[in-house]
Amino acid sequence: MMTINHVKIFAPATLANVGPGFDVLGIALDQPGDIVIAERKNEKGLSFSLHDASNPLPGNHKNVAAHVANLMLEEFNPPYGISMILQKNMPIGSGLGSSGASSAAAALAINTLLPKPLAKMDLVRFAMEGEMLASGSPHADNVAPALLGGACLIRSYHPLDILKLPVKNDLFWIVAHPHIEIQTQAARAILPEMIPLTIAVKQWGNLAGLITGLIQGDSGLVGRSLIDHIIEPVRAHLIPGFYEVKAAALTAGALGFSISGSGPSVFAVTPTRELAVRVATQIQKTFLTLSHIKCDIYISNINLEGANILEQSS
Ligand code: HSE
Repeated sequence: MMTINHVKIFAPATLANVGPGFDVLGIALDQPGDIVIAERKNEKGLSFSLHDASNPLPGNHKNVAAHVANLMLEEFNPPYGISMILQKNMPIGSGLGSSGASSAAAALAINTLLPKPLAKMDLVRFAMEGEMLASGSPHADNVAPALLGGACLIRSYHPLDILKLPVKNDLFWIVAHPHIEIQTQAARAILPEMIPLTIAVKQWGNLAGLITGLIQGDSGLVGRSLIDHIIEPVRAHLIPGFYEVKAAALTAGALGFSISGSGPSVFAVTPTRELAVRVATQIQKTFLTLSHIKCDIYISNINLEGANILEQSS
């Protein structure tokens, strides 16, 4: 096998939870995303630099990409070191899976340079450690789709069992990122530890319905299943005007609407691109008129590829 000495990796933003699937369901988007460039060097160990002057991310040892890279170098102990640059294109605390994208890109970069690279699925456990560092919780609903692409179900955490769902992928996902920041750790701290059985019954009915709808390409089923009875009601108040924006999106024709990951990004889903643009305009307008908050919009189908190699050389 050819020895790879230099690699450039892209890992995409992800939409975690997707309504009723808290911590167990996530999808990959086309854009935005982070880039990691890595190359072998003679001295062992990691040298790391961050290219994003506008982003107050922690330096070297605390950066999630550096953390993931260090864990992999410790475990595989290759006879060389790696110098790595993270091109941070995504805002942190956005609900777009920013730390997940950095972690996934770093894991795939280090892996590509290893003498015997692992399968992408085997990198999820390393990328999850980046999430642990960023939010205090090693959830995989961002890093799994960021690495593997598609819609990923975390069937079990112990042992880790991740399924890439065979989705029809004919729907359009609109993710709106309002320019405020919510730290995942804080958004997790307010969640209930216990939920009533009656609520749990509704939630797992909807999650199963959503997954069935995505696989069968049944937009009506996706729409009526995209209801989160547990997490959205607790986090909605963190996003100014959340219920007004939701009402505007649904009135404009969205099949469903909820919070992307731990917010503040929100998402909607539509059967056509034309309708997606209309819904996106209403979301943007409502955030601006109601709360004077600007937002960026991303529209795509599910990105089925996930993290990928942009360049490599020996
Ligand atoms: N499932 C996680 C949460 C995703 O909702 O806290 C964080 O992006």
